[in-house]
Amino acid sequence: MKDAGTGESGRAVGGADGPGPDGEEGVDERLLARVRTALSRSSGPVTPPVVVDALRASAEPLGTAGALRVAPRLGAALVGAGALQVLLDEPGVTDVLVNGPDAVWVDRGRGLRRAHVRLGDEAAVRALAVRLAAGAGRRLDDASPCVDARLPDGVRLHAVLPPVSPAGTLLSLRVPRREGMDLDQLVAAGSVPAGWALVLRRVVEHRLAFLVSGGTSSGKTTVLASLLGLADPRERVVLVEDAGELQPRLPHVVRLEARHGNVEGVGSVGLDELVRHALRMRPDRLVVGECRGAEVRDLLAALNTGHDGGCGTVHANTAADVPARLEALGALAGLDARALTTQAASALDVVLHLRRDARGRRMEEVALVGRRGDELVVVPALTASGPGPAWGDLAARLDLDPGQPPAGASAGGERLLPRGAARPAVAGDPAPAGALR
Ligand SMILES: Nc1ncnc2c1ncn2[C@@H]1O[C@H](COP(=O)(O)OP(=O)(O)OP(=O)(O)O)[C@@H](O)[C@H]1O
Ligand SMILES: [Mg+2]
Repeated sequence: MKDAGTGESGRAVGGADGPGPDGEEGVDERLLARVRTALSRSSGPVTPPVVVDALRASAEPLGTAGALRVAPRLGAALVGAGALQVLLDEPGVTDVLVNGPDAVWVDRGRGLRRAHVRLGDEAAVRALAVRLAAGAGRRLDDASPCVDARLPDGVRLHAVLPPVSPAGTLLSLRVPRREGMDLDQLVAAGSVPAGWALVLRRVVEHRLAFLVSGGTSSGKTTVLASLLGLADPRERVVLVEDAGELQPRLPHVVRLEARHGNVEGVGSVGLDELVRHALRMRPDRLVVGECRGAEVRDLLAALNTGHDGGCGTVHANTAADVPARLEALGALAGLDARALTTQAASALDVVLHLRRDARGRRMEEVALVGRRGDELVVVPALTASGPGPAWGDLAARLDLDPGQPPAGASAGGERLLPRGAARPAVAGDPAPAGALR
């Protein structure tokens, strides 16, 4: 896409005062403006040779060698993520966050560190955010000051403009690993205990319904994609997502993405509506990338009406918090806690909980979903310290030997009724102490 006239301002892009602390040289704003003008006279995509030609046409006395040297940074400033592009391209970078022109943070897998990148001034950051949003086919302006979208190269963009972000434009960029990670790679990386891999394979093969839970950036989407990659290749998988992120390695995948309305709110298509459409598309497996609103009602309804093997992610800090999170989401869709318990206990089988801390991202719990009286519960089956009370039940559902829990663990024994056996709670219907049903 040619984008020669975005009006990004600021004295320089990518380090205002010559070489930055990490050796980056700035791109002179005057030069940038001239090249934009030169580019605006041609058509077609802005490729490196096109930028070099535009530089020559800009009458800047750089010579061919100078033009070749400056062209990549100019190209990034014109069409990529500007001075941020070099960070996004760095192997191992997962997040790039902009809090202001001189406050750029980067996560290379070991937490956030300040990056020595300068973006000029607030106007330049805002222009960059607007241009990135436009590249994702979305608008970002005073009337529509927040955007969550996926850039053409797969990077997820979140941007907020003032006054919603009072101190200035905020950008949050999430870089997916170029090729994702399959289950073997997650095991090799120490993110999934080796002994749990068979359990996870069986969860997918037996078409249990599961949610991957965890805190922000704990690896939920990555784990979900890796598990989808274990599905039978003959299955038709329908993905419903807000900003398309999941890239499962499967031959038969179709994707529905939510659409955000215009300023008047006209034209929006929400995830809940998309889940209902997905059911008309003959899915063998329905996937909701992230349950964060009323779509939870439609997903649970689908799972309760014969759509086995459905899955998704949900934000929760511990596996035990998942019921409360689902209740909160159900409330957004008008489901009261009791209705939610009834729906979720019979729709969902398993929760896979992830944690991210200083040691990295890892799966810390496999749990079974059930009910205890009127209460939705998530009961540990596998934990870092060994099998939990629901292991025996999970093993039975997966045709595994309950007496042989994954390495280093010994068998536990709390019983959950199998999926489908949950019945609507009746007022005044006391559950036996400790019983799950
Ligand atoms: N086990 C892992 N090892 C290394 N990198 C990982 C691992 N899991 C995820 N990542 C990387 O960490 C980043 C966050 O992962 P992911 O998007 O899957 O997290 P998430 O929990 O879905 O985040 P969000 O809360 O934003 O939805 C991505 O760049 C991803 O490629
Ligand atoms: Mg995610």
